[in-house]
Amino acid sequence: MALDDYFTAHPCAWARQIEATDISTRILAKAQAAIYPAETVSRLGPAKTKAYFQTGYGDQEGYYRVRPALRSQVRFNRLNLLEGQPPFTEPMQIIFCRNVMIYFDRPTQEELVNRLKAWLVPGGYLLVGHSESLTGIPHGLTMIRPATYQKPLR
Ligand SMILES: C[S@@+](CC[C@H](N)C(=O)[O-])C[C@H]1O[C@@H](n2cnc3c(N)ncnc32)[C@H](O)[C@@H]1O
Repeated sequence: MALDDYFTAHPCAWARQIEATDISTRILAKAQAAIYPAETVSRLGPAKTKAYFQTGYGDQEGYYRVRPALRSQVRFNRLNLLEGQPPFTEPMQIIFCRNVMIYFDRPTQEELVNRLKAWLVPGGYLLVGHSESLTGIPHGLTMIRPATYQKPLR
């Protein structure tokens, strides 16, 4: 939604692709279903609700589903962030890895941050959760504000 808002205001020819991953197929299926309770969606306000959601009827009453035009911009794949190759080949402009590192010890966090860094374009951004500090982890990224890091251009 944020990207769609941005590119509507700033039209350009960039191809957009969002790669959504998780180790859990159950969580992936839930994310892919893109169904949210009305009380969650209402926080976005009526304009975004109308633009980006379909209203549920019958047994879906009280729920909203993200419109297909938006859902089709997201590819869902299972990925263990700590193993193997990612299911995408193009380097990323932005990686959101929020509230995942909390599960891992310091050496594993270091391994993960450096794997994510390798998947970024030079100048790309890594966003972590606000409770996840990369302090003390050697990563070579530049902190540009809390929880937001940038890969150096060279
Ligand atoms: C607390 S949730 C955070 C979800 C989301 N990023 C957010 O901020 O709302 C953590 C997620 O990390 C996933 N996860 C845990 N270990 C993982 C791993 N090794 N590789 C990929 N995902 C993992 C879990 O399945 C879970 O969905």
